[in-house]
Amino acid sequence: MKNDIPTHVAIIMDGNGRWATRRGLKRSEGHYAGYKTLKKTALHILDKGVKYLSVFAFSTENFKRSKEEVDYLMNLFVTAFKSDQNFFIKNDIKVVFSGRKEPLSDEVYNVMKEIENETSNCKKTVFNVCLNYGGQAEIVDTTKKIVDLVEEGKLDINSLDTENYYHYLYNDLPPVDLLIRTSGEIRISNFMLYSISYAEIYFTTTCFPDFDEEEFDKALLDYQNRNITKGTVK
Ligand code: FPP
Repeated sequence: MKNDIPTHVAIIMDGNGRWATRRGLKRSEGHYAGYKTLKKTALHILDKGVKYLSVFAFSTENFKRSKEEVDYLMNLFVTAFKSDQNFFIKNDIKVVFSGRKEPLSDEVYNVMKEIENETSNCKKTVFNVCLNYGGQAEIVDTTKKIVDLVEEGKLDINSLDTENYYHYLYNDLPPVDLLIRTSGEIRISNFMLYSISYAEIYFTTTCFPDFDEEEFDKALLDYQNRNITKGTVK
């Protein structure tokens, strides 16, 4: 019997730079192509019945890239999250962000807060954008949050377990069922470490700008035909 549609899909959107370089384009053009692909493919994924989609938009390590590339990506986030508000509202997609505030500029952070507020009543699906995100940092930040709650008398430490731990992560989302990484790299790169514990992992050599609806359907079929013994924990 085929597995159901995964509830939570997460994507490491890798290979924008290589996609551009192979075409004699600038890396920034690869990021723009990736953004265009993300809009189209995300809609397709959510239309398939996936309820939660998480994407790795910018890691804490990505700040080590050239100033030109970091500035380009930050501007792209600001422009996209301003101009796409209606896109998210029209499609009933609630946007949330996972990651640390520092060292994001106020301009980027304010746009993130604005789109979170504007889409907070959307109900159909959740789009979790991991921006200035690191998986180990999330576990450390969650631990600190839990300690604070315990000290304030708001949480009994003995009630904490592996299932309700999800409530205290950056966002209270269910575990990831299917993790996809594009571009041929076969590693996790510090992405959603707690939430991918039981995820099925799909690696493809396709670079992210080419990860269209058809490519997602291949990943979905692969997932649906797998013998999943562990299942999810939540
Ligand atoms: C990794 O490819 C990709 C990124 C660091 C950026 C991903 C961002 C997008 C797809 C745009 C998303 C836009 C919004 C608004 C959320 P890479 O540059 O590491 O590729 P390479 O390994 O080939 O160099």
